[in-house]
Amino acid sequence: MTKPTLLIIGAAGNNGTATLDALTRKHKDHFTIRAGVRSEAKASDLRNKFPGIETAILDLDQPATLAAAFKGVDKLFLIIGNVENREEQAKNAIDAAVAAGSVKHVLFYSVFGAEYESILFGRQFRSGEKYLEASGLKWTHLRTIFFQENMPGWADGIKQGAFYFGIREGRFAPLNVGDIGEIAANILCSDGHEGKAYAITGPQLLSGQDFARTFTDVTGKPVQYVSPDEATTLGSLLGAGWPEWQAKGMLELFDVFATNQAAVVSPEGERLLGRPLTTLRTYLDANKAAFV
Ligand SMILES: NC(=O)c1ccc[n+]([C@@H]2O[C@H](COP(=O)([O-])OP(=O)(O)OC[C@H]3O[C@@H](n4cnc5c(N)ncnc54)[C@H](OP(=O)(O)O)[C@@H]3O)[C@@H](O)[C@H]2O)c1
Repeated sequence: MTKPTLLIIGAAGNNGTATLDALTRKHKDHFTIRAGVRSEAKASDLRNKFPGIETAILDLDQPATLAAAFKGVDKLFLIIGNVENREEQAKNAIDAAVAAGSVKHVLFYSVFGAEYESILFGRQFRSGEKYLEASGLKWTHLRTIFFQENMPGWADGIKQGAFYFGIREGRFAPLNVGDIGEIAANILCSDGHEGKAYAITGPQLLSGQDFARTFTDVTGKPVQYVSPDEATTLGSLLGAGWPEWQAKGMLELFDVFATNQAAVVSPEGERLLGRPLTTLRTYLDANKAAFV
């Protein structure tokens, strides 16, 4: 019997790589795994890391590149990257999935709280979700919250004893990307997920003070929590080279955290993973070198 083909778009990114890792460890005997990337260099890198996978070169901004990548695909995991035209890229990929004729189900990478469409990131991803829901394809949305793996972006301050994070007295539950990859792989390789929107958080609600305390414990040096005002946060994001749309989007997200609108621990992640989710402490212990 021929094995069903899974296409992962955004495969060379953080979540794509984590998903390929879980798929190749746990499910490769039952599925043909195809990684969609933008360049041959990334394709060959992924083939080296994950022997046995197929690769396809595609660009979501160039719809003509998509048909060949979708040939014979049964399921798609669509990860749209950190781009301003997320809506357009999602539309291009979903149109190509419909045109392929073989695609039965799309797992759509989205963000926690997308259904509220209250901030830019939510609206961008919800637009893709809605387009998919109207496409006639079976769908599942994977709505993930802020990653633990973002923390190295704050490493300079931490090394100097301060965690500058503008969420005031708010709390949220940061999520591990390795866990997301395994959750995505489990969804792709099992049935019963059609028409579901999964809200995935990490295992523990943490305040800025809790983060700082964990950094202190892991590095062995005191780290103080500082919540800068919005203008200061915007200035540092722009200064670090973030495009304006993204930096302003991050401020909106921080405000959601600061006002405790995302202060929940969802049970979905652990249920879909089949084991406890990774804590911030475990992630930091494994990645201590980045913060000392
Ligand atoms: N950071 C967070 O806490 C957080 C939380 C929830 C959701 N998100 C969002 O979730 C998404 C996935 O996150 P991630 O960390 O896995 O992203 P990532 O590492 O940036 O990976 C995104 C991938 O998309 C690919 N890509 C970009 N433009 C493309 C195009 N025109 N055609 C085809 N592929 C294209 C990139 O390809 P190249 O490798 O060639 O550059 C990259 O591999 C992002 O949109 C992210 O912003 C982030």
